[in-house]
Amino acid sequence: MEKILKAIQISEHVYWVGAIDWGIRDFHGYATSRGSTYNAFLVRGEKTVLIDVVKRPFKEELLSRIRSILPPDQIDYIISNHSEPDHSGCLDEIIDIVKPEKVFASPVGVRTLQKHFHWAQEVIPVKTGEKLDLGNLTLSFMETRMLHWPDSMFTYLEEDKVLFSQDAFGMHLATGERFIDECPPEVVHEEAEKYFANILLLYAPRVSDLILGVAESGLEFEFIAPDHGPIWRKDLDTPIRWYTEWAAQKPQLKAVIVYDTMWQATENMALTISEALIEEGINVRVMPLKGSHRTDIVRELLTAGAILVGSPTLNNNIFPSVADVMTYVKGLKPVNMIGAAFGSYGWSGEAVKQVVEYLTAFEVKVVDTLKVQYQPSTVDLEKCTELGRNMAAQLKAHVAEF
Ligand code: FEO
Repeated sequence: MEKILKAIQISEHVYWVGAIDWGIRDFHGYATSRGSTYNAFLVRGEKTVLIDVVKRPFKEELLSRIRSILPPDQIDYIISNHSEPDHSGCLDEIIDIVKPEKVFASPVGVRTLQKHFHWAQEVIPVKTGEKLDLGNLTLSFMETRMLHWPDSMFTYLEEDKVLFSQDAFGMHLATGERFIDECPPEVVHEEAEKYFANILLLYAPRVSDLILGVAESGLEFEFIAPDHGPIWRKDLDTPIRWYTEWAAQKPQLKAVIVYDTMWQATENMALTISEALIEEGINVRVMPLKGSHRTDIVRELLTAGAILVGSPTLNNNIFPSVADVMTYVKGLKPVNMIGAAFGSYGWSGEAVKQVVEYLTAFEVKVVDTLKVQYQPSTVDLEKCTELGRNMAAQLKAHVAEF
């Protein structure tokens, strides 16, 4: 049975024709607790353009929303701003249906799409500063390498002042509302921060450069239309300010304690350390790995000044759940943190050393470590308190340097 879904008008010439994925809870390892959307946009000028498509299983939703405006074969051009399959997954099938005159992507995007589809389709490369004339409207392009992939680019509609920003300024948030200002502000902030931390953190220096470049371009914006989540149309200074702050990763008086435990010994250490930090006035997030997802841990680290990691030793190794988080964090490379490693062991005790190796690999300055054999004694717990106090003092000195 054919879906009957509606496009939603965003500006005078732009319609949202994307898909809402209410059910997704794992986006390549990212916990999408509130679902997501895959946004696509129709720009209707004398020529009609489709900007991005959707994940392959949502093709019919996209087509249905397009049909509410015009028959798909009346689309003249397709622009692929980003080749990741959540935005290009059904591009080959949509091209077969639409039969557009031309398809455009960045030069890297042309090569990336070829590697995805292994097709004979001609895709025209467009570089930063190039324009596409739609008769009464003009689109311009800006390559944004590594935001989020090497192929990524922005498209800008000059007449309506809409920036189509693909992954940037987006969030994984499934809603019936299409605009940010219709959503609860605390949800918007949480999901935007989580998205930045988990998708863009590795490329934070490029985010800073991009924001500077956009500011210097002199372009005016009335809408920022990302490929995930609702669309920004008011107070556009807010996402720019948030991205500027997050990209800077200025450490705060905040410590994140991540740990797992086998027989509550490492947990006992973690909780004792946390009490000492709290007593010293540090904002503490205790994140036991039986219940804390790596996605939320990275979000907390974005605004932290210290990371403390506790791992028992299991079979001469770091505990598997701790290794999972360390591997994930190492890939995203948060900066400007000090750290500590601690844990209980029975007879070999390699885990603390391995945690230190992970922390050092993403340039955390490790300032303290503590190993305890089997269950912590009263003396051991006093050492945990000392470690917490030491971390608090070191964190205050560290934050003062920025
Ligand atoms: Fe939403 Fe990098 O794709």
